[in-house]
Amino acid sequence: MPLEGFHAVKHALRFAPALVSDVRVTSYDRARALAERLAPDVLAELLSRATVDEVGHHTGVAAVGTVPAEDRSVLTARSAPLVLLDAPRSSGNAGAVIRVAAAAGASGVAFVGTLDPWHPTVLRGSAGLHYALPVLRVEPGQVTGPVVLLDADGDPDAELPTDGVLVVGSERGGVGEELRSRADVVLALPMRAGVSSLNLATAVAAALYRRR
Ligand SMILES: C[S@@+](CC[C@H](N)C(=O)[O-])C[C@H]1O[C@@H](n2cnc3c(N)ncnc32)[C@H](O)[C@@H]1O
Repeated sequence: MPLEGFHAVKHALRFAPALVSDVRVTSYDRARALAERLAPDVLAELLSRATVDEVGHHTGVAAVGTVPAEDRSVLTARSAPLVLLDAPRSSGNAGAVIRVAAAAGASGVAFVGTLDPWHPTVLRGSAGLHYALPVLRVEPGQVTGPVVLLDADGDPDAELPTDGVLVVGSERGGVGEELRSRADVVLALPMRAGVSSLNLATAVAAALYRRR
């Protein structure tokens, strides 16, 4: 998988260095300056692996990441909520969800539907934070635990338990019937009158940080 840009390479080196290869920089000095300022913890790793080459990203840093072995334990046991995206359509939205799920300490992000969670465009959207938590494709029946469905028509006081599965709908149709029928509670994020919905990653961010 292409890791495009300093931030993607930095996150992958930080969370899963063994899965990073072919690190390229347009200039050692430029890469050193970026790492000194933004990520001193990966500076030595970055420079010791890098070769100078052309890089098609404005930060002048790129690498290749290997997809990790799937950690499916998170589907049945967890110490922080699991985010479940029901048939997401936009790879940019999906990547942004992974980024905020990693930041907010979710236990993983599972995808139902046809979008490949490890597609390069999803990886681009997560800034390499796929390497910070399990990201995998599932069938709805493979996930166990209390199901908290996110929906604007739900209950603003519903709670997201530690071992909960936070189900988020697709950009067009919301949550499908199969997962809707499994909901234990439906959580709404109140909005001003006239606003119909939040973007996927914004809704996930609000739900996860509200719990924290
Ligand atoms: C862009 S919205 C999709 C809206 C879609 N048109 C519908 O009919 O539900 C994508 C998903 O984000 C979540 N979401 C967005 N705004 C929300 C809100 N205010 N409260 C709870 N969930 C919300 C829901 O899970 C929703 O299915």
